[in-house]
Amino acid sequence: MNLADLNKVALAMVTPGKGVLAADESSGTIKKRFDAISVESTEETRRDYREMLFRSQEAMSKYVSGVILYDETIWQNAKDDTPLVKLIEQSGAIPGIKVDEGTQGLPGCPGELITAGLDKLAERLKKYYERGARFAKWRAVIDIGQNIPSMTAIHVNAHALARYAALCQQAQIVPIVEPEVLMDGDHDIDRCFEVTQRVLNKTFQELRVQRVALEGMILKPNMAIAGKKSAKPSPVEEVAEKTIRLLKSCVPAAVPGIAFLSGGQSDEDATAHLNAMNRIGGLPWRLTFSYGRALQAAPQKAWSGKAENVAAGQRAFTHRARMNALASKGEWEAGLEKKVA
Ligand code: 13P
Repeated sequence: MNLADLNKVALAMVTPGKGVLAADESSGTIKKRFDAISVESTEETRRDYREMLFRSQEAMSKYVSGVILYDETIWQNAKDDTPLVKLIEQSGAIPGIKVDEGTQGLPGCPGELITAGLDKLAERLKKYYERGARFAKWRAVIDIGQNIPSMTAIHVNAHALARYAALCQQAQIVPIVEPEVLMDGDHDIDRCFEVTQRVLNKTFQELRVQRVALEGMILKPNMAIAGKKSAKPSPVEEVAEKTIRLLKSCVPAAVPGIAFLSGGQSDEDATAHLNAMNRIGGLPWRLTFSYGRALQAAPQKAWSGKAENVAAGQRAFTHRARMNALASKGEWEAGLEKKVA
């Protein structure tokens, strides 16, 4: 492992004014997104859609530091036969790969999940590196509900995240460590704070035990935020202030950067929250986005599977990428959110 090189890639992923595009939806998830815009999900439509994003020259070269790909996509070629990975590299962004294989029920813990994908991971990472991937992602899922999460679920998910991260670094790939506490429930922001704190503390404990070099990783956490069904939604300033307090209490300064997931927040909320946190300033790590839905909902709608809408889809993507890029520097204003054609 060359830690200096891992650190260089990690820092590039969180370049101020840039962030990560999470385009790593599994075939099942992208089908759900396509269903919502009445587009059939085939290998070709998935390719066309992602090619549209990766050929958004302005967004990719100015606002996107890296792209997380799904296994199918990393091996796909564009219509003109250029590998999609090459399109990303040519734009100046770094290709990355989702390497987890989704979640399964956790035995003995009803309603809780464990992420699969450690078997043969070392071999898979080697192939992804040869194809151009310089970072990877693994998502652990923790749900908040009555009597959950259990200590067991927190522990085994943290253990798997650290196993994955250590294997990535051995393969000269920067791990994005993503312990996602879901915002699906009716819990308030303080419950989210308390659960996320336990999850992050356990995750960093496991990372230390398994000798993961913190300088060569990126953390991808949820924000401290009330559940979607909560009767008490949190104002932007409260989300920002509590998320910063939470992260300061758990995330060592050796971690180069934190790239948030959007987790079901509206496009504008995800931007406003990131912006408000960066306005607080004085942080030991860089804070940016690694959004999936909050970057892609608008372009998906504008595109709607039609070749004649590609330019509109690219404009919508560029707009959201630019808004979040500004937020990564604390320079976003609500007034910039004028409608894009
Ligand atoms: P969302 O921003 O849609 O939550 O997706 C980010 C991601 O990569 C989840 O694993």
